Amino acid sequence: MASSGYYLVVLLFGLFMLMISFVESQTTDPNSEECKGKWVYVRKLPSSFNLDLLVNCSNYPLYDDFCPHLANHGLGHKTHNRSHSWFRTDPYMLELIFHRRILEYPCLTTNPVQADAIYLPYYSGIDAISYLYGSDVNSSAHHGLGLFDFLSNDSPEIWNRNHGFDHFLVMARPAWDFSQPLRNDPVWGTSFLELPEFFNVTALTLESRFWPWQEQAIPYPTSFHPPSVLLMESWIERVRRTHRTTLMLFAGGGGVSASPNIRHSIRVECENTTSGGGGGVGGNNFTISGSISKICEIVDCSNGGCDHDPIKYMRPMLQSSFCLQPPGDTPTRRSTFDGILAGCIPVFFEDSSAKTQYGWHLPEKQFDEFSVFIPKEEVVSRGLRIVDVLTSIPKSEVRRMREKVIELIPRIIYRRHGDSMGWRTKKDAFDIAIEGAIRRIKSRISVTSDS
Ligand SMILES: *[C@@H]1O[C@H](CO)[C@@H](O)[C@H](O)[C@H]1NC(C)=O
Ligand SMILES: *[C@@H]1O[C@H](CO)[C@@H](O)[C@H](O)[C@H]1NC(C)=O
Ligand SMILES: *[C@@H]1O[C@H](CO)[C@@H](O)[C@H](O)[C@H]1NC(C)=O
Ligand SMILES: *[C@@H]1O[C@H](CO)[C@@H](O)[C@H](O)[C@H]1NC(C)=O
Ligand SMILES: *[C@@H]1O[C@H](CO)[C@@H](O)[C@H](O)[C@H]1NC(C)=O
Ligand SMILES: *[C@@H]1O[C@H](CO)[C@@H](O)[C@H](O)[C@H]1NC(C)=O
Repeated sequence: MASSGYYLVVLLFGLFMLMISFVESQTTDPNSEECKGKWVYVRKLPSSFNLDLLVNCSNYPLYDDFCPHLANHGLGHKTHNRSHSWFRTDPYMLELIFHRRILEYPCLTTNPVQADAIYLPYYSGIDAISYLYGSDVNSSAHHGLGLFDFLSNDSPEIWNRNHGFDHFLVMARPAWDFSQPLRNDPVWGTSFLELPEFFNVTALTLESRFWPWQEQAIPYPTSFHPPSVLLMESWIERVRRTHRTTLMLFAGGGGVSASPNIRHSIRVECENTTSGGGGGVGGNNFTISGSISKICEIVDCSNGGCDHDPIKYMRPMLQSSFCLQPPGDTPTRRSTFDGILAGCIPVFFEDSSAKTQYGWHLPEKQFDEFSVFIPKEEVVSRGLRIVDVLTSIPKSEVRRMREKVIELIPRIIYRRHGDSMGWRTKKDAFDIAIEGAIRRIKSRISVTSDS
């Protein structure tokens, strides 16, 4: 098995090199108006910071073999041989996906002095595995020091020009995994974001902390990576046309033990409405409107049961009006984006599940136009029933919300790399993340140069 991983990496590496030389031979006019204020320089890092970390993908201690997820530059294998857009994507591979996409960013420069932002192609989340699970578990504060050492010694003028404020990287995990206080071993997480050496960089994470400083959360990748606008639009048409026969759906695990929490409440409520034999029966006081034939459905994803198998949950999500997105170990979930992709209106139970996280991609001021908010305390402690809240929303309002959700789809997907024809006018999650990072960097540089 180790050798299959090895060949995969050799292949990946070859493709990367091909791509890099292709990019370098493409010279965008440095006076281009289109690229003004948007130039990105990709810092060349030793392969120990990225590709070497993939070589041992099948034998990281206490961590599953992730070699299969590396395929297609981090998109994973296709769900079926004939599939163009659907992959078995692991969200932790966003570092690879991002790296591949940036190589076709239209405003790359080979001159760091001209750059508005400097991208570090460091696979920080993969490098973190040995600190989270492996031999470096008692050395959290060392995560990142090697990188900083390189940046301060190899062409140090690139870092020094703006004290690192123009540097950014992707860290494809919740920021929590990188923000343990220094000298606090052995607890969960590395201290990368706590190191003063990296206070000035911008980190794009899957989830940000309560009071984020360096980081900004960007969408978890879903399994949908259409190669063309046409394929995206035909998916959106399908989402719009589908019959929603289930009122609400929860795809996930947890909540099985009796301890009170939101997942437990969801499970109880869902089992009750189901065993009651449908709406109105068993004391439930609501009317089932129109085409709804099922009140609640649970897709059991416990013990990783849905990982890398999007068919398991995408089909039920397509058939549901509302998708429940309760917090778990951390407040955010990939499922939020799978649900949006299916046109399923998200129901959140705390603001930190999305509203205070994904401001670049999900417009914070319009949250109640495309999502429902039910404070979890109301459900867990005060007996508020989710089904009562959802059935009280008028049908016309549900339709309006769903249309808003569908409008968000292009913003939260990561399109497939490669042929970028047709995408110039559509911005996907990657394009929005790059714009956001450049904006953030500009504002941080202007703040510090005034002080
Ligand atoms: C991969 O693992 C082997 C055995 O543990 C080790 O000898 C080798 O140095 C590792 N390779 C890289 C690139 O980390
Ligand atoms: C699909 O792919 C698998 C594995 O790559 C291969 O064994 C199989 O023959 C393919 N099937 C078709 C119909 O191409
Ligand atoms: C980490 O520290 C703990 C407690 O100090 C110790 O039990 C454990 O063996 C150490 N782990 C490693 C991999 O050194
Ligand atoms: C971060 O920026 C401050 C200026 O705001 C600077 O003094 C400090 O040296 C920078 N940190 C690093 C590691 O470059
Ligand atoms: C199911 O719902 C009925 C009516 O609302 C309620 O009386 C009963 O306690 C519920 N059962 C459970 C297990 O929550
Ligand atoms: C059901 O709803 C009706 C109308 O809203 C109300 O009058 C009635 O008391 C409710 N019944 C129960 C059991 O909650």
